[in-house]
Amino acid sequence: MKTLIFSENNSLDLATKILQQGGLVSSPTETVYGLCANALDEKAIQRIFKAKGRPSDNPLIIHIASLAMLTQLVNEISDDAQMLIDAFWPGPLTLIFKATNIVPKIVTGGLDTVAIRFPSHPIMQQLILKSNLPLAAPSSNTSGKPSPTNAQRVIDDLNGKIDVIIDGGECKFGLESTVIDTTGITPTILRPGAITTDMILQVIEHVNIDPYLLNEESIPKSPGMKYTHYSPNANVTIVKGDNNLHVIKTLIKNNQKDGIAVGVLVTEEFLSDFKDVPAINLGSIANLDGIASNLFENLRQLDDLNLEQVYTTFLPQEGIGNAIMNRLLKACGNEIILTNERVL
Ligand code: TXA
Ligand code: MG
Repeated sequence: MKTLIFSENNSLDLATKILQQGGLVSSPTETVYGLCANALDEKAIQRIFKAKGRPSDNPLIIHIASLAMLTQLVNEISDDAQMLIDAFWPGPLTLIFKATNIVPKIVTGGLDTVAIRFPSHPIMQQLILKSNLPLAAPSSNTSGKPSPTNAQRVIDDLNGKIDVIIDGGECKFGLESTVIDTTGITPTILRPGAITTDMILQVIEHVNIDPYLLNEESIPKSPGMKYTHYSPNANVTIVKGDNNLHVIKTLIKNNQKDGIAVGVLVTEEFLSDFKDVPAINLGSIANLDGIASNLFENLRQLDDLNLEQVYTTFLPQEGIGNAIMNRLLKACGNEIILTNERVL
């Protein structure tokens, strides 16, 4: 299949037509690029799963651009959900509701709930409004790879597998939306994102955090959380604790002796400590928003360096730092060395 690559808004009419005919369009959003199809067309949705190589029990988020669309798709909107909608939509927040029966089971992975997001990105909003369709859209990557935050990374993964890629430049937030389940008595955060726990608690009185986010042993409520994600080709290890830079340097020396291609993924502040190995600059620790927006691109650049082993450090888990560490921990398959507990 030939994939059309559009760079300007004037191609939105053609992209809209393709969506109405059951095609797949990758569009920028304010979080990451999304791979869009008509949420009510089962065949089109099947094509999303195929193009991404995504397991069929991992449900998709449906994107809307009006509250009228919401009421067709969901059965109940709790008071807390309504307050979250008023505060954060349009924006990087996905809410889980009980689904109406117009939502195809293939979208929800067989669940009776559905994930809905009202994105703020003008191109995505235009696609929804012009097509007058709710659009199912997972992140626009091959399953298991970091989510794409620019069109080139979508091309790398999906060229030849989908109908259209719209190049709308870099995504603002760079991490996927915060996901909150609103179907229980107390809303529960299933995936951390740019809408942080503190921001949520300014709007509603209580919010739970899915135990799976705190302890991998429990069963995730969001099917997507059990799959490996964002895995770079290199083995990535987080070194946490006092003296971590010293420990990383020792580990690097050992790896070099063994002929292993080794590098680091560190904040700007630590770059000068690692002048003699390939290093990816995460950005300044004083600007966690900047680290978030470049994280996935940095993970993809790691692959371009052809390394076998990469070391990184723990970042402060405050505000967006929670979402950053959630993605980084997945990227390293939860491989952490705690320096305080290990004598080298
Ligand atoms: O920012 C975003 O959310 C991006 C952009 C494109 O909107 N989309 C995105 O989609 O990240 P995806 O498919 O990569 O992640 C959707 C997550 C998965 O972890 C999935 O398991 C979860 O949402 N999810 C979807 N429906 C659900 C449901 N009914 N119950 C629980 N979790 C659900
Ligand atoms: Mg994804």
